[in-house]
Amino acid sequence: MTKFKTSNRKILVTSALPYANGPVHCGHLVEYIQTDIFVRFLRLTGEDVIYVCADDAHGAPIEIKASELGIKPEQLIADVYKEHTHDFKDFLISFDNYYTTNSPENKHYSDLIFRKLNEKGFIYTKDIEVTYCEYCKRTLPDRYVKGKCPKCSAPDQYGDVCENCNAAYKTIDLIEPYCTICKNKPIRKSSKHYFFKLSKFSKKLESWLKRNKNLQPEIKNFVFNWIKNGLEDWNISRDGPYFGFKIPGEEDKYYYVWLDAPIGYIASTENYCKKNGLKAEDYWNSKTSRIYHFIGKDIIYFHFLFWPAMLLGSGFELPHDIVVHGFLTVNGEKMSKSRGTFFTAREFLQKYNAEYLRFYYASLLSKTMSDIDLSFDDFRKKINNELAANIGNFCYRVLNFLNKNFDGEIKEIDKNKELTKEINEKIKNIGKNYYNLNFIEVVKDVLHISSLGNKYFQENEPWKLINEDKAKVHKILGLCVNIVKNLSILIEPILPSFSLDLQKQLNLENLKWQNINFKLKNHKIGKDDILIKKMEEAEAEKQEFPLNLKVAKILEIREHPNADKLYILDIDLGNEKRQLVGGLKGYYSMDELKNKRIIVVTNLKYAKLRGVESQGMLLAGDDGANVGLLTVDESNTGDKVYFEGYKNSTKELGFDDFLKIKMTVQNSRVYFENKELKTDKEIVKVEKVKDGARVR
Ligand code: 2FM
Ligand code: ZN
Repeated sequence: MTKFKTSNRKILVTSALPYANGPVHCGHLVEYIQTDIFVRFLRLTGEDVIYVCADDAHGAPIEIKASELGIKPEQLIADVYKEHTHDFKDFLISFDNYYTTNSPENKHYSDLIFRKLNEKGFIYTKDIEVTYCEYCKRTLPDRYVKGKCPKCSAPDQYGDVCENCNAAYKTIDLIEPYCTICKNKPIRKSSKHYFFKLSKFSKKLESWLKRNKNLQPEIKNFVFNWIKNGLEDWNISRDGPYFGFKIPGEEDKYYYVWLDAPIGYIASTENYCKKNGLKAEDYWNSKTSRIYHFIGKDIIYFHFLFWPAMLLGSGFELPHDIVVHGFLTVNGEKMSKSRGTFFTAREFLQKYNAEYLRFYYASLLSKTMSDIDLSFDDFRKKINNELAANIGNFCYRVLNFLNKNFDGEIKEIDKNKELTKEINEKIKNIGKNYYNLNFIEVVKDVLHISSLGNKYFQENEPWKLINEDKAKVHKILGLCVNIVKNLSILIEPILPSFSLDLQKQLNLENLKWQNINFKLKNHKIGKDDILIKKMEEAEAEKQEFPLNLKVAKILEIREHPNADKLYILDIDLGNEKRQLVGGLKGYYSMDELKNKRIIVVTNLKYAKLRGVESQGMLLAGDDGANVGLLTVDESNTGDKVYFEGYKNSTKELGFDDFLKIKMTVQNSRVYFENKELKTDKEIVKVEKVKDGARVR
């Protein structure tokens, strides 16, 4: 048995704190699943580990979103907190504490760290020029100013980087800037700000990076380069209106969200410790404890420079490791709402089991920054051929055979030295690879063990042998049950719920790493049952329909400024809002449209119609004389709309290809190749138009 626990040291593990202004999505889940697997493994081996996290609840986007929704930021973050914790629970993310950065503990530590840094002379103030909107009465953060890129003149670029030429600049450098909230031209204004002397820490940071052998070398190289090129001091304040902690002694200035966000790691630890009779210092001020942060590659700068500098400057210990993962792509491309490849955690759960994603991500993860791809083809294959057909099948056939032929009881164990030796070697590797975050190899070796088990079972043909040598078969089953038991422990960090159910069937519980052995004898198991079902094969056989159709609700209607047949509509798609331009004027009044539930094509390439962007298209019948909307009554916003026997495509579609699709109206219903358009709850209706009308 491999031992990892070398002392009674305390271990603290964190994942990055998700912003409290939107749902958790499949991209976020890469990190929470990676961290959770690691933490569960440490717990399984008996380490004294806690896993803390929190919602990142401050910042301009949260204040602005709340004001748009007409609610207080406190209300917004409370609502999001509920959603986030619900999603994490359903993905089996086992936080010991999930808190919020808008907490008294975080205020305490933020003030403390700010004060210490200030006392040591690491903070100074300076007047700078900011971009200010006189209409919105606010200083505009990078993402709230757009204009022409100062380098390449590309229009509609954000205030920090140009998506066309990648140039980085300041908001005040934009040409013809406009406020994205009210579209007016902002002014320049001078404002006092607080700066943190990051440059003073160059040497210390460099030596920490050199000393620390856990950090990924490719990332160290990046960071060394940044240091070599000279570190700029960091603006840690923001002007109000802002949602955050006020800077002591200031009327309308706040800590920048990125100052108090990582301090949220300490605050969540403190909150956990208070509830459990422990001390946060034992994690953050101790030479023997170990702190592991898990982050994505987009926030390396914050975690490898700002954060350790803040810790150094205020007398806390530095992290033992900062594990950095890559981004998630879906079917090989960046996640995209219009292509239908942006899945929230909730949407994923509506279609698949959470453990499928845990298994799939684990099979791709290692301690590197490379991106990982959620390819639905590959996903289906892995779940069906590896998880279901290999691991699931082996466990089920063993327990089922034992129950049928030996009343569920094992006695002696077959002494197959060769097999147990090979399995023991794999087990050793699995332990090491969990510890080193090399989950790709863990999954391979676990699959290898269950293949060996399957082969052993198959080659012995117990269903035949039982007529000749029942005692021998009983021993073979004894060994097989031991393999199943070991698998239930080995896979627990990745598939905790599968493992729990399997151990229940084995009539065992709460097995730890040290229970991995071949010693289970004279034991009666419980009832067997199939644990992993193959993913719906039928779903895969369905033909693809080129459109992605969903139910949307019309929220607001406006006149189009440059066209007399067009309206601009704000619509709600359940988890996102979009703007559409549609030719309904003359056919529908604004009042008739308000709150109507319509059908929208969501995977159409965004297009400008007379200068206004349309982010999709509403469907309507047109018989030459009249135009009538497709509508539903019972269905919810965001519900899938489809033709029986077809599955909606998620690929982006151009307008010309859209026009080639022939959908027509009969009896106020829509047909494509003789199939009716529907949702899971009802058949879609068409208003106002005659039979034979074209739908577009
Ligand atoms: O990038 C993000 O999503 C941030 N909310 C992460 C914060 S991590 C930590 F530093 F608080
Ligand atoms: Zn404005």
